[in-house]
Amino acid sequence: MDDLPTLNFIHQKVINVANNPASSAADLAKVISLDPSLSSRVLKLSNSAYYGFPRKVTSISQAVTILGFKTVKNLAIGIMVYDNLFKNRDIDIDMKKLWEHSINVAIFSEVIGEELNYPNKEELFICGLLHDIGKAIWALINPNILKYVLKVCEKTGLSFYEVEIHLDIPSHQTTGEIICRKWNFPEIITLSVGNHHTPSSVEDVYSDVVDIVHVADLFSNAVFNDLNWYPSKLINEDAWNSLKLKPSMVIKTVQEVKKRFESAKDFLNI
Ligand SMILES: [Fe+2]
Ligand SMILES: [Fe+2]
Repeated sequence: MDDLPTLNFIHQKVINVANNPASSAADLAKVISLDPSLSSRVLKLSNSAYYGFPRKVTSISQAVTILGFKTVKNLAIGIMVYDNLFKNRDIDIDMKKLWEHSINVAIFSEVIGEELNYPNKEELFICGLLHDIGKAIWALINPNILKYVLKVCEKTGLSFYEVEIHLDIPSHQTTGEIICRKWNFPEIITLSVGNHHTPSSVEDVYSDVVDIVHVADLFSNAVFNDLNWYPSKLINEDAWNSLKLKPSMVIKTVQEVKKRFESAKDFLNI
C-alpha cells in the first residue's frame, strides 16, 4: 500500500481547505487557482449543461458564489481523482466504462437524495462518483489481479465483489477506503467508498449516504446496463427499507436520471 500514489502538493492543499470548516470561499478559489489545469476544468464543469446556468462562469470565485462551496470543492476532488486514477491509463481494461458507471451512480445518488429531501445532497454526487475507486486502484497497482477477477466473474456468473470475497483478496471497498484515508478525503466519502456493498455495517451519521450510494449503484447497473464490470444484483434489505423509496419515487428518479445524464456529457472527458 506504500506504493499507492500520493497527491501532489497543490492537490493536498485543496483537500486541506476542503476539510477545514473555517475555510472561506476565497480560500477555496485561491487554492484551486494555483493549479491552472485544475481550475480550467472546474470552470468547464461549472459551465456544463449539467448545472444549466444561463451566464458564463468566468472565474473560480464566481463558480463558488454561484454553485456553492461544497459543489466546487467536490468538482475539484472528482477531477483530482480522475487525473490520478483514470486518465491516460495504458492498460487493456475498460477504465472509460468504469468512469461512465461512476458518473451514472453519482447522478443516481444525487437524484435519490433530492427525492428523499436529503439535507446534504451536494455530497451525494461525489460519494457516488468515487464509490468504485478501489477498482481503479487495482488497475493501477496490480492489473493482473483485476483481469483475473474479471475472468472469474465471466466464468462463474458471480459479481465482482463476490469474486473478491471468494478469492479472499482485499476487496475494492477496502482498497478504496485505504486510498481515501491516505489522501485525507472527507469522512462522508471514505465511509461510502468503504461500505457501498455492505451498507449495514455503517452506523454513523452518514449511514443514509452509504444506503443511498448502495441503492444508486444497483439502480444504475439495472438501468444503464453497466454489465462489463460484473455488478452486484442483490439489494441490501436494511438499506432499502431505511430509505423508504416508494415505487412512484423510483419511476420518477429513473426518468430524472436519464434526463440529467444527457446533460452530464462534460463529465465523461474532464
Ligand atoms: Fe463496487
Ligand atoms: Fe459500482
